[in-house]
Amino acid sequence: MLNDADILLLDFISESSLGASLLQVLESAPDLRVQSQLATLSGGGAAPVGELIRSIKRRGPNLVFLVLSQSLLKKSHSLFQTLKETQVSPIIVLSEAGDPGDIFALLKLGVADFITPPVSAYNILPRVWWLIEQSRRGRTLVRTLKEKFGLNQLIGESESFRAVVKKIPLIAGCNTSVLISGETGTGKELCARAIHYLSPRAHKPFVPINCGAIPTELVENELFGHKRGAFTGATMAQTGLIQEADGGSLFLDEVDSLPLASQVKLLRFLQDKEYRPLGSAKALTSDVRTIAASNTDLEEAVKTGKMRQDLYYRLNIIPLSLPPLRERRQDIPQLASHFLASYAADFSKPAIAFSEESLQRLLAHDWPGNVRELENVVARAIALTEREVIEPDDLDLPRARKTAGQTSFREAKVEFERVYIEDLLLAHSGNISRAARAAHKDRRAFWELIRKHHIDVNSFRAGSIVK
Ligand SMILES: Nc1ncnc2c1ncn2[C@@H]1O[C@H](COP(=O)(O)OP(=O)(O)OP(=O)(O)O)[C@@H](O)[C@H]1O
Ligand SMILES: [Mg+2]
Repeated sequence: MLNDADILLLDFISESSLGASLLQVLESAPDLRVQSQLATLSGGGAAPVGELIRSIKRRGPNLVFLVLSQSLLKKSHSLFQTLKETQVSPIIVLSEAGDPGDIFALLKLGVADFITPPVSAYNILPRVWWLIEQSRRGRTLVRTLKEKFGLNQLIGESESFRAVVKKIPLIAGCNTSVLISGETGTGKELCARAIHYLSPRAHKPFVPINCGAIPTELVENELFGHKRGAFTGATMAQTGLIQEADGGSLFLDEVDSLPLASQVKLLRFLQDKEYRPLGSAKALTSDVRTIAASNTDLEEAVKTGKMRQDLYYRLNIIPLSLPPLRERRQDIPQLASHFLASYAADFSKPAIAFSEESLQRLLAHDWPGNVRELENVVARAIALTEREVIEPDDLDLPRARKTAGQTSFREAKVEFERVYIEDLLLAHSGNISRAARAAHKDRRAFWELIRKHHIDVNSFRAGSIVK
């Protein structure tokens, strides 16, 4: 059974028994506290709507009942739109009857339920209890998500990193596009999730899409979905990620990899909130917030024609730039200890620690793969060491270079190339495409280098650390 719950009943019909019957039913339940008041929309203008919402927020009920006449149902869209955006408590509408089109429109605007007479305990109370229970569960879930993906997981005390973290709650609060830039492994996705889960959209989906990983011809299908029969093999309609993210956030990772034709369509959607699934003549709407990320210089991509300037401006309303790890070396010990604690627990080696020398070694490295590389190096060391203290030779970092005089120029060049490739593979967890891109090489040329140096790519892949 429920623990006490507060219900606010707003009766918009002054001369009807509907509100009175509802009040009687609600008051018959011992665990519901009901406040009832007559309300007005005065033609749906902004001022009474604002006042109404302030009054609901002040009282913070678990559930709101709106008793509406059929004619008011048609006029109250601005009220519901605002209620949806401000996310007050769940709302049930009670009306004598309703046109199915109006009811559907209300449900789309976020009304939780629509009830018509008979106003009986049997008809009303189970729905009330169910909704209150759902909303309580939802709130607990959102709180857990906020803790899990919020700011706590963003480790680092350096000034440049803190400056970014400080902005996240502010950015989360406004509903505009964000563009996160930073080298690979600097925490762009982590920040994107924090922005979403600290925003009012936290109870709706966070939908990531890696624009670089989807073949060109499939990008639009992924984003917009398709109608049944849109192309050979499309035996069923499929919703796109834009629809899945409705009400939530769409994370466009590696956004510079979007083909130009898809950039045009994405821009049109961002401007109008309307899109057409492939093969469909009908425009659909979806309310998403975009968070885009890229590890290349997007202004440069605009200059070279790889990225449309209008889309770049549309995405870059709020820029967030993550500093590389080598520019905030003071964060290395804290991050390393964080990963040490977490992987030691995972691998059941709780008594493990870094020696002073190994910490020095971590501090001296340049970390081209940033925090991801550090995480992988620490995880590997913990998995493979048999000691309780991690020493420098447990760290899979490029060996100290031989000094000039000990080696020929040719040997030094070969050695440099091998170490460079191994570093990249380590930074990108053995992902050839990413590593090749970071080296500004095409995939095939990069493979040739790997073969030339007899490098075992599998040993760099995620999961290989637990061998
Ligand atoms: N400040 C941080 N605190 C704790 N963990 C971090 C931090 N920054 C990054 N990480 C960890 O490093 C890894 C890489 O982070 P993330 O995926 O967010 O990077 P990215 O910038 O999106 O990289 P890429 O450009 O390669 O996609 C993740 O496992 C993440 O948890
Ligand atoms: Mg990423």
